[in-house]
Amino acid sequence: MSSYLLEGGQRLEGEIKISGSKNAALPVLAATALLEGCYRIENVPLIDDIRTLLEILRSLGAEVEFLPEGTVLIDSSTINNCTAISERVGKLRGSYYLLGALLGRFGEVQLRLPGGCDFGRRPIDLHLKGLRQLGAEIIEEECVVYCRCSELTGSNIFLDIVSVGATANIMLAAARAKGTTTIYNAAREPHIVDLANFLNAMGARIQGAGTDIIRIRGRAAFRPTGSYSIIPDQIEAGTYLAMAALTAGDIALRNVIPSHLDALIAKLREMGVDFEIGEEEVRAMRAPHTALTATNFVTAPYPGFPTDLQPQMMVLLTQAAGVGKVTENVWNNRFQYIPGLKQLGARIVTQGRSAFVTGPVQFTGSRVAAYDLRAGAAMVMAGLVSSGTTEIANIELIERGYENFVAKMLQLGAKIIKREEPMTNITEIDFVS
Ligand code: EPZ
Repeated sequence: MSSYLLEGGQRLEGEIKISGSKNAALPVLAATALLEGCYRIENVPLIDDIRTLLEILRSLGAEVEFLPEGTVLIDSSTINNCTAISERVGKLRGSYYLLGALLGRFGEVQLRLPGGCDFGRRPIDLHLKGLRQLGAEIIEEECVVYCRCSELTGSNIFLDIVSVGATANIMLAAARAKGTTTIYNAAREPHIVDLANFLNAMGARIQGAGTDIIRIRGRAAFRPTGSYSIIPDQIEAGTYLAMAALTAGDIALRNVIPSHLDALIAKLREMGVDFEIGEEEVRAMRAPHTALTATNFVTAPYPGFPTDLQPQMMVLLTQAAGVGKVTENVWNNRFQYIPGLKQLGARIVTQGRSAFVTGPVQFTGSRVAAYDLRAGAAMVMAGLVSSGTTEIANIELIERGYENFVAKMLQLGAKIIKREEPMTNITEIDFVS
């Protein structure tokens, strides 16, 4: 089990390039299975979740090649199988996009239920309800779901809860359905828009992506798109902007879409962070010896404050003057990492969906573990402001979603080492000076 070792007290400053969006690349790569053909997808992050999805596509018969600089070539014409029930399918959440893609192409699919970060129950009932409304017959077993439909038919689908995954999965299947499908209460995330743009580049006729009503006219004159480039990862970008705020640093990000970060930038400004915003760049600065001011935020579907930046902002509030309030309205159980922050010295009280954070508190380095992908990044942030050395175990969970994480942190001046096995005594570390 690999771990990171961090020496606290470094101001992070410098410039890094943000990678392609994990949560946009997953549905787009799955969408190449919707229509046989050759695809060139650019700006794909080389992270474990992406590698796993590409291995699943290979296992179905696709030809997949990863070129340098994040370009993936896929030939899905050789896919000859619509059953994906191996262990690896259960390693990530994004494998569920194969339901819509394979059902749309072959009229049937058998898929192991997805995995992903542990926020308590992560049902896919809305995905299945939407596919049933398109005419699919669905059998759910212990950990496998089986869908079949000889001819999908467009329908009006109302999502009881705003769901990114269900919106994307229904779009994928509806693109190959007869007639028009309208999704009401659809997710508006940038990665939903990216998927719609990719499908439209293939000849689909999707309107309204980015709003809460998306209309898909099925059975278009499909053709494999030439090349397509994935949008930048706004959660990766937000994580590094939060680090600049946390360490009184100065971090410039290239390859970002600033408008995707509006909610975070607004909150960091409230806390006392300054910004320079360009066409495809964002720079966050906080002068040394200026204090962070506590604030409140509530997570919500886009364009609300992103739940995937909640743990990172929680760490920021531990270093801000005053009492901040965090309300998690997207996931039922996304505070499970808080005991790890308390071990470092955080003062956090939870009450239902809210957490009250009192700061600033000086953290003391200790041994902690990544609870999940974004909470793992939050633990790294906590290590940045802890006295002494902090060891973070289970860092595979972090590397699932952050490309070249250690290299980017070193580029920003962090004192971080990756260890293939936990240290016996973390006080004897000689960091690369
Ligand atoms: C996507 O998960 C992201 N993952 C998550 O990011 C992100 O937290 C989430 O969207 C919200 O933005 C990927 O894109 C791979 P949802 P998803 O369906 O699609 C409930 C990360 O850090 N729900 O929008 O699974 C669900 O329980 C990850 O990159 C149902 O009840 O999220 C939750 O409360 C972590 N039934 C809410 O909807 C369903 O069928 C939102 O979930 C589906 C969802």
